[in-house]
Amino acid sequence: MKLLITAGPTREPIDPVRYLTNRSSGKMGYALVEAALEAGHEVVLVSGPVNLTAPKAATTVQVETAVEMYEAVAREIGSCDTAIFCAAVADYRVDGIEASKIKKTEDELILKLIKNPDILGSARSEFGFSGVLVGFAAETDDVLAHAQEKMERKGCDLLVANDVSRRDIGFDREENEVTLLFRSGESQVLSLASKKRIGREILQVVENLRDQRKP
Ligand code: CTP
Repeated sequence: MKLLITAGPTREPIDPVRYLTNRSSGKMGYALVEAALEAGHEVVLVSGPVNLTAPKAATTVQVETAVEMYEAVAREIGSCDTAIFCAAVADYRVDGIEASKIKKTEDELILKLIKNPDILGSARSEFGFSGVLVGFAAETDDVLAHAQEKMERKGCDLLVANDVSRRDIGFDREENEVTLLFRSGESQVLSLASKKRIGREILQVVENLRDQRKP
């Protein structure tokens, strides 16, 4: 397989010294990259800013903002047969980034945010991607119902659902527990384990989906 994997958060600037971001560490995405390389696949990693070292064997494109991630994915996805969107992309960016540092002259500061492009949601409709498409869903309530809706809306073959209301798993933790949702309506729980192990298990499922597609 040749996989495109997005990982980490995005960083949306407010002015030259400040930005909006989220709690993603990139660990789950990088674990998937390592699992794919171990299994002998080619990997293009599109990574937001993280404190992790990208494996040398992957082709890595470093980005900061959601718009940069969108452009990198638009460029790279055509050469891949499988795409895993693990990044925690900021849904909004600041409208009108200040060129100079904002000074605290007023009592209130109102930021106007505008919607970022949905990168995973563009894979089928805009990038014309027909390979195996995997999305992630980080949810706090009604985890499986939201994840199912997301899978259908974004045209995924597999959706990895993460309950981020639990403090022992998910954002910036070493371990994870996820539920895999398939288009058939079936689901599979990958119980609590290191992100490395969960990465390997997800990759095996993705390999099976890819094999089922082969003529
Ligand atoms: N995603 C993406 N581009 C975005 C937002 C999300 O590619 N602008 C991808 C993520 O990488 C993940 C999936 O979409 O694979 C779900 O992300 P999530 O933020 O949970 O979904 P949203 O579409 O933003 O839905 P909501 O915020 O309403 O829950």
